[in-house]
Amino acid sequence: MMSLLARFIAANQRLSKTAEDRLPARFKRHIQTLYKYKAAELVNRRPGQVVLDIGGGKECPFLPYLDAPHAHLIIALDLSEEELRRNRQLEGKIVADAASHGFPVRDGSADLVLSRSVVEHIRDNGAFFANCARVLRPGGFMIHAFPGKYAPFALINKLLPNRLARRLVANLHPEWREEDNYGFLAFYDRCYFSAVRDLLDSNGFENLRFDFLYYQSIYFNFFFPLYLLMLAYDLIASVLGVRNLASGIVVTAERSWINRVAPRPSELSSPEVATAPVVRDRDSNGAAADPIFGRHRPAKPPPARLHAK
Ligand SMILES: C[S@@+](CC[C@H](N)C(=O)[O-])C[C@H]1O[C@@H](n2cnc3c(N)ncnc32)[C@H](O)[C@@H]1O
Repeated sequence: MMSLLARFIAANQRLSKTAEDRLPARFKRHIQTLYKYKAAELVNRRPGQVVLDIGGGKECPFLPYLDAPHAHLIIALDLSEEELRRNRQLEGKIVADAASHGFPVRDGSADLVLSRSVVEHIRDNGAFFANCARVLRPGGFMIHAFPGKYAPFALINKLLPNRLARRLVANLHPEWREEDNYGFLAFYDRCYFSAVRDLLDSNGFENLRFDFLYYQSIYFNFFFPLYLLMLAYDLIASVLGVRNLASGIVVTAERSWINRVAPRPSELSSPEVATAPVVRDRDSNGAAADPIFGRHRPAKPPPARLHAK
């Protein structure tokens, strides 16, 4: 019975793939890929940046695309200590809730704040973007990639119990299991264009740039007729440019220079970095590695300060 179902799904996925192959490349752009390149481009702009990877989890996706990864201080901040422990790419790690009032990062200390597939998991994005504004130096940038609240797959995800949604994705899309980057509880708080734009405006961000993606029918490729129906929906939303219906959003924004909360990095006299990472790796002798830099101390000291409160 199971193998019959598996064969049925595989046949439907093959048919869906045939249709997908005929779609324009731009329409099929993958949010994860777009994010990796855009995030790397921001980090590569200049050396010695303090970069906060919010909800960094077990993977820093843009790291392989950096010209000089060790020239920056990249810190993953995540609610889950377990996820951070699995992160072998970064050694600066902070366990914290990115939307909490006690966000343990000093005002104006980060050059870049970024996140991938995290905004939809945050309960209160008003508090989250206020924290981003506070910790970014004036003129600092942020980039976030997240799914749109009103995309059909997101609406279904929100309706289903989290465990069931996780099992469905694992069974219907075994090819995504390897990434193991799905199934976290999602709230989609104000995860759509106009709400995010308003949140960023009210928190003093400017030069907002949005990329909108509409192709989410891939979630439904297990049943070809449903895939076609969803594809029609995606194409119509895309052609009409209904931005609040986008299934994926990548937004970049600059922290305003007005209401400066901290000195520019070049004005800081003795660059130092101190915070309270809960996750500490060990070096080859078993000694605790430097809690911030680990074995990857940047060639140049980073330009700004980070402090636990
Ligand atoms: C889907 S994973 C994405 C992980 C990583 N950014 C990536 O792209 O592979 C979502 C991550 O966000 C973290 N997260 C969820 N809510 C958070 C919050 N309020 N503050 C910090 N991290 C949070 C989760 O623990 C998880 O590691």
